[in-house]
Amino acid sequence: MNDLLPDRSALWQYFEGKVQALTQRYGYAEIRTPIVEQTALFARSIGEVTDIVEKEMYTFEDRNGDSLTLRPEGTASCVRAAMEHGLLHNQTQRLWYQGPMFRHERPQKGRYRQFHQVGVEAFGLEGPDIDAEVILLSARLWRELGLSDHVTLELNSLGSSEARAAYRDKLVAYFEQHRDQLDEDSLRRLTSNPLRILDSKNPDMAPMLADAPKLMDHLDDASREHFEGLTALLQAAGIDYVINPRLVRGLDYYGRTVFEWTTTALGSQGTVCAGGRYDGLVEQLGGKPTPAVGFAMGIERLVLLLETLELVPDSALGELDLYVLPLDDVATTQAMLLAERIRSELPELRLQLHCGGGSFKSRIKKADKSGARLALLLGEDELEAGRATLKFLREEREQMSLDQGALIDILASMTASDERA
Ligand code: HAM
Repeated sequence: MNDLLPDRSALWQYFEGKVQALTQRYGYAEIRTPIVEQTALFARSIGEVTDIVEKEMYTFEDRNGDSLTLRPEGTASCVRAAMEHGLLHNQTQRLWYQGPMFRHERPQKGRYRQFHQVGVEAFGLEGPDIDAEVILLSARLWRELGLSDHVTLELNSLGSSEARAAYRDKLVAYFEQHRDQLDEDSLRRLTSNPLRILDSKNPDMAPMLADAPKLMDHLDDASREHFEGLTALLQAAGIDYVINPRLVRGLDYYGRTVFEWTTTALGSQGTVCAGGRYDGLVEQLGGKPTPAVGFAMGIERLVLLLETLELVPDSALGELDLYVLPLDDVATTQAMLLAERIRSELPELRLQLHCGGGSFKSRIKKADKSGARLALLLGEDELEAGRATLKFLREEREQMSLDQGALIDILASMTASDERA
């Protein structure tokens, strides 16, 4: 579980700001749910025999003896809340959320025990158009972050539950024939969750897995049609994808479309966004049959990716533009009033006012250490003349004496032209 320290929080805000604007532009409304739920909600939705429920949940008994769990993901909570508040009665919903999730996994780069997701969930729409829409939304985010060339869309269809059950029998028969090649983990899954064996990263099993029967070849007609509808829409929109017949996902609620956006730039934890369709979940949790599709992305991984690829824009570095520095205590009031005036006139500017007094030398040092590009100095001479001195802290450039009346315009033009550069 990580602290987010000041040197990186601006980058998180940059990412979160992009997501917030984007979900709004697609007509998705935010939902916020508690970070704890009844344990049974996750067991019933994610599935009793998944890694998450079997091994990774932070579960505890509260003072009433109820079993509660820190949410390991957002979809189940979203469905619970939507049902509880009647959001699914004869209506469609496009929702998004963000926040911390908790899984007791083995931590490594890109995998943490408290991590953060942004997710979207669309309810009440059964056609492939909405599957395409959520994928287009994510693709636009990659474009806006400069990530498009670094991520790949992997697609699969898990078919209907009947088709999946029939396929499961075929797959188990195939694995039984190759039992000697299964590792310990896979042997365990053979009875509990054989589809997950396809997901194994064990290189010794790769050739055997490559020859395993493919779910894509055993789809029911309706799921095949749905999948073809989705791929046609993606092609029309110019979104590249690869079909990965072994993509099965680690949560049990999926049927039909599943997808993941992956990158090779992060090592083994390369899935930055993942989701799919879960048409059976609302009914399974006691609601009316409601088609649904969504995804969630891992914020840590995306932030790491932006840093690794050096795609962090200056605006996401959180640096100050201007340090307003009274050169002695006499100038404190004027400096504070001037700083307030600049904040009113130039709300985009990141301005810090020197507080805490100090000697002339230590004040100048603080200005240098502030990281700001510019400092505005106010001393006795400046006060008398109604002027201020603009000092360039990060470039070799003569300082300028400015009339306070003209200050706003000059600061505005200076920061605007710097942004263009
Ligand atoms: P998930 O594949 O379990 O799906 O997680 C989605 C994303 O969350 C992953 O692709 C990854 O980027 C991030 N993530 C997961 N676990 C960790 C971790 N331990 N540390 C850092 N990042 C992590 C879901 O959670 C589904 N609820 C997605 C969904 C929404 N499906 C439909 N709607």
